[in-house]
Amino acid sequence: MSTEGNTRVMTTHRLMEMKQSGEKIAMLTAYDYTSAKIIDEAGIDVILVGDSAANVMAGHETTLPITIDQMIYHAQSVMRAVKNPLVVVDMPFGTYQGNSKTAVSNAIRIMKESEADAVKLEGGMEILESVERILSAGIPVMGHLGLTPQSIHKFGTYAVRAKEAGEASRLLEDAVALENAGCFSIVLEKIPAALGRKVAETLQIPVIGIGAGRYVDGQVLVMHDMLGLTTEFSPRFLRRYANLHETCLNAFRQYVNDVKSEDFPSENEQY
Ligand code: KIV
Repeated sequence: MSTEGNTRVMTTHRLMEMKQSGEKIAMLTAYDYTSAKIIDEAGIDVILVGDSAANVMAGHETTLPITIDQMIYHAQSVMRAVKNPLVVVDMPFGTYQGNSKTAVSNAIRIMKESEADAVKLEGGMEILESVERILSAGIPVMGHLGLTPQSIHKFGTYAVRAKEAGEASRLLEDAVALENAGCFSIVLEKIPAALGRKVAETLQIPVIGIGAGRYVDGQVLVMHDMLGLTTEFSPRFLRRYANLHETCLNAFRQYVNDVKSEDFPSENEQY
């Protein structure tokens, strides 16, 4: 059997080597073909087809409403674009909590229909059975601890997690349990930098942070936030690399003006 068709260079094994050699891992979200193509061209290591699509693509207040069909649609669009990065797909809310048999069927569906490389699940001990069953099907799993947006109704707030010692030590235990189960990496969201460092130093697998400080093994941001397309969301950890809201607004306004003033189309822009 030939495997020559798959030329993508990033693997879970390579991510582990990056941790060992101290090379930081750069990860971004993407949900569509055009953005994923540009992100790939920029040399990203990992693309996350995040359930944040529920917020930035669909306009929901939380990530809870997104469906498995919608996640697969986004993942397929990304997969058509990428050449190099590893592509991880978020398992949406309700597809893995509570029943590990349903969890593995849903993970298999995501992998089969999207042809992505791995899935990501939010939670620690409480989802361990699902994580183990998905891993036993040969599907790489990325964990996600700290602020886990699918549990927003339990937390009641998007504030920094694990500031208090009890929650911090439970988070560390969860991280160790996920590593022991066989996860290839863990995302830590919105926790103190000192705890991020402790988890990264304790685990052998790469720890990727979003608001988890500078001492972890890599960073992830939501594409729409780092491009400045979203304006209402401004946590301390978010560095904006562009102000595309302003750029797009100016372009759209100019277009409206040009149509109304009959400047567009010009003689040269018609047949
Ligand atoms: O869905 C998402 O974008 C995520 C990141 C915040 C890590 O899970």
